[in-house]
Parts: sequence; C-alpha cells; structure tokens
Amino acid sequence: MNEEIKKKFLRMIPHALYVLTSQAGGKTAASTVSWVTQASFQPPLLAVGIKKDSRTFEAVNAAQGFVLNFLGKEQKDIAQKFFKHVDPEGNQLAGEAFVPSPQLKHPTFPGMAGFVECRVVGLVDKGDHAVVVAEVLEAQGGLAEGPLLLSSTGWNYGG
Ligand SMILES: Cc1cc2nc3c(=O)[nH]c(=O)nc-3n(C[C@H](O)[C@H](O)[C@H](O)COP(=O)(O)O)c2cc1C
Repeated sequence: MNEEIKKKFLRMIPHALYVLTSQAGGKTAASTVSWVTQASFQPPLLAVGIKKDSRTFEAVNAAQGFVLNFLGKEQKDIAQKFFKHVDPEGNQLAGEAFVPSPQLKHPTFPGMAGFVECRVVGLVDKGDHAVVVAEVLEAQGGLAEGPLLLSSTGWNYGG
C-alpha cells in the first residue's frame, strides 16, 4: 500500500470537532474528538472512535455513557484546550463551566453550541482506537453559527 495516498484519502473524510465528556466513580474526563458519525436512525446511534490509552476511554468504559458537546465554528480555542488531559476544578474544566447532563450526569458546557447525551450499547475493539456505539438519549441546544469543521482549523487527525 502507498502510505502517502492512504493518508491523503483517509484525511479527506470530513469531520467536525466535539468535546466528549464522561464521569464515573468521581473521575471526570473530557477530550476533543473528531471521529464521530451517525450509525442508525432507529434507535438513533452514533459511532465514535476513542483512543484506548486515554483517560476518556477509561471513563466511558466505566460509565457506559458519555456526552458529545458540539463546538460552534468560532470555538476553535475551546477545542484546543481538550487535546490533553484536564482535571476538573470546581465546576470548570480547562476554564469552561459545566453542568451535569439531565439523565446520565456527564459534563455539559452551557458556553458551547449544544450536546447529545449517549448510552453505550456496543464496542468494537480491534485497533488503537475502539469504536464505541452509543444510543442518543437526549439532545439540547442550538447550532446557529454552524459546527466547527476540522477542515477549517488546519489540524489533522487521521491517515
Ligand atoms: C484534531 C484532533 C482530533 C482528535 N480526535 C480524536 C478522536 O476522534 N478520538 C480520540 O480518542 N482522540 C482524539 N484526539 C486526541 C484527544 O483529544 C486526546 O487523546 C485526549 O484529549 C487525551 O485526554 P485524556 O487522556 O484525558 O482522555 C484528537 C486530537 C486532535 C488534535
């Protein structure tokens, strides 16, 4: 296989950016993620690629749930804060205030565009990221300004 061509095409798959949060057993994790797609209408399912050696994967596994917080197109600065592990300080993560989600109590950020709350229903564990399949239980917020697209940031994740 030509590695350069593979990388080029895999990076052409369009993605947006989100902050995925999960809390379990008093531990809270939050990561910027991009490998997200809808995977079923009924029930509404998402598939998310989550790095297996991350604290976020640990938390999602323990909680069997997470919140996907949607970033607006002007929120690149927020995405950047969650590329590395951050611990909560009071009701803030990386300086962003959060409140618990309605059903599963994972962090949601009133300052972001909105969120979907998800319960894990399956996991495909075949690579350095696990494909986590989750059902959307709740959705809140508005996305007036449009999503933060990875292609608009100059960053890459994939290939
Ligand atoms: C542009 C970009 C996109 C990313 N997308 C993902 C992703 O889809 N899934 C993932 O697990 N990590 C992704 N990451 C890496 C996580 O942000 C990073 O591993 C995480 O914040 C580590 O924190 P943690 O150990 O607290 O989970 C991405 C990083 C960058 C720079």
